[in-house]
Amino acid sequence: MSAVLVVHGGAWAIPNDLAQASVEGVKAAACGGFAVLKAGGSALDAVEAAVMGLEDNGVFNAGHGAALNTDGEVELDSIIMDGRTLGCGAVSSVKNIAHPVSLARAVMEKTSHVMLTDRGANLFAESIGVATVPTEALVTELERTEWKKNKTYMAGVVEDFNAQAHDTVGAVAVDRAGNVACATSTGGIRNKMVGRVGDSPVIGCGGYADNLSGAVSCTGHGESILKVTLARLILSHIEQGKSVAEASQLALQYMGDRVKGAGGAIVVSPSGQWSATFTTERMAWAAVEDGVLWYGLEPNERKKEQLSQ
Ligand code: GLY
Repeated sequence: MSAVLVVHGGAWAIPNDLAQASVEGVKAAACGGFAVLKAGGSALDAVEAAVMGLEDNGVFNAGHGAALNTDGEVELDSIIMDGRTLGCGAVSSVKNIAHPVSLARAVMEKTSHVMLTDRGANLFAESIGVATVPTEALVTELERTEWKKNKTYMAGVVEDFNAQAHDTVGAVAVDRAGNVACATSTGGIRNKMVGRVGDSPVIGCGGYADNLSGAVSCTGHGESILKVTLARLILSHIEQGKSVAEASQLALQYMGDRVKGAGGAIVVSPSGQWSATFTTERMAWAAVEDGVLWYGLEPNERKKEQLSQ
């Protein structure tokens, strides 16, 4: 079967001056992740590689480019999940780590736990030799300028999903063996309380992967996503026979109706069906399958580029 990889760069009202860079960023990350699949790598390796690329890109709210909390600090959340085994690793509120997704993978592979938080996550990182970086190395000029405007968290939420700010990255993949995986990484929402954990690192909310149904990575207002367990809700609809696109639309619609939350999701099924769906103004996403790169930013936009083999 053909391998597929899909990424998102966050569902929010991406301003025009970041639109091009967001689209270029997701295209590059999708191609980078797909190169891993093409070389025979697993879905798990591919989603980690794609998310690492997005974490390195200051346009996105993850790793370098993360949103700042009320103290002006970076606190990062991430999850990775392997659909073969339901193996899962997550970190929350970690500081000074350039690639939280890789630390999440280390939690999955090197500990008996699913999630480590805050100081414990940083102590674990130190114990396995993960280098820390100064906070300022992760903060972009744009984020520091926006943070200095000193708006409240709720004003940020309104801006995030109706006007301007930024949200989360993620990837889902299915490899040639039919194994699925997901990864999600975020700086959270600007001016969040110190210690606030959003949906991204929470299993079944910011992401889920199961070879029996598919893999999902979510983005959007974390408190809303947590309340409806968005990733698992999407997979429940798939289990009941919906297509990946229908399942995503139903679950996002439910989140809008039930808790007035907006967001987005990328999904891939074990048979290679995929979708990128959102209820915000924009979401940068890209997908690679069968030598074709698909991408979009606006609702219902689906552009296509043939990749050289
Ligand atoms: N969706 C990311 C967050 O709310 O933290």
